[in-house]
Amino acid sequence: MDNQHNLCIYRLWSPVYDTLFKAISHGGRQRAVALLDLKPGEKLLIPGIGTGLDLLYLPAAITVVGGDLSPAMLAKARAKAAGRDVTLCEMDAQKLDFPDASFDAALFSLLLSVVPDGAAALREGWRVLRPGGRVVIFDKFLPEQARLTPARQLIGGLIRSLGTDPNRRLSDLLRGLPGLTLSYDEPNLFGGQYRVIRLDKA
Ligand SMILES: C[S@@+](CC[C@H](N)C(=O)[O-])C[C@H]1O[C@@H](n2cnc3c(N)ncnc32)[C@H](O)[C@@H]1O
Repeated sequence: MDNQHNLCIYRLWSPVYDTLFKAISHGGRQRAVALLDLKPGEKLLIPGIGTGLDLLYLPAAITVVGGDLSPAMLAKARAKAAGRDVTLCEMDAQKLDFPDASFDAALFSLLLSVVPDGAAALREGWRVLRPGGRVVIFDKFLPEQARLTPARQLIGGLIRSLGTDPNRRLSDLLRGLPGLTLSYDEPNLFGGQYRVIRLDKA
């Protein structure tokens, strides 16, 4: 998966994304926003915001900056952002154009399994998070104890061609993040294949 592949794939997904994924992802988004525990006036970053489904769950009295690689996905997010303190922009989550410590919180919904270098995207989110800030992740990960068998690799390759990688391990993405506490790691959809995770920055 590279950025060019994702641009093509998510241009194709954009017209049907909400129809296919809104209902199914409801429980995960609801829990992710609860774990963010946002206070009025706080500033939230959403890298890979896609069509903006997370916006439907957020409190009104916060500032949101959402970015995505795909103009087609962002176009769908615009309608959901209307009338709110939400800024949307094209951005590569692996290389953010924001200063260090400029956000109170960050939300990664279904991005770290998609972006070519998930560890780089999380590192960037962590860099722009203030001390005492938190990151919440809603995504699927390969269970830590699961073996990456040839069958898993084969199926993973097929799923990757659709724009998401089911074979990433959370521990690989977290390695080396300074001041990290893994505060929550909860099973969510599909028997725990999807998880909701909260990281706190010292
Ligand atoms: C599975 S969708 C998730 C969208 C949204 N976060 C959600 O929860 O519905 C993955 C999104 O990641 C975006 N994306 C892929 N690579 C990216 C990158 N390098 N930087 C920013 N966004 C990227 C895609 O364009 C797509 O909108």
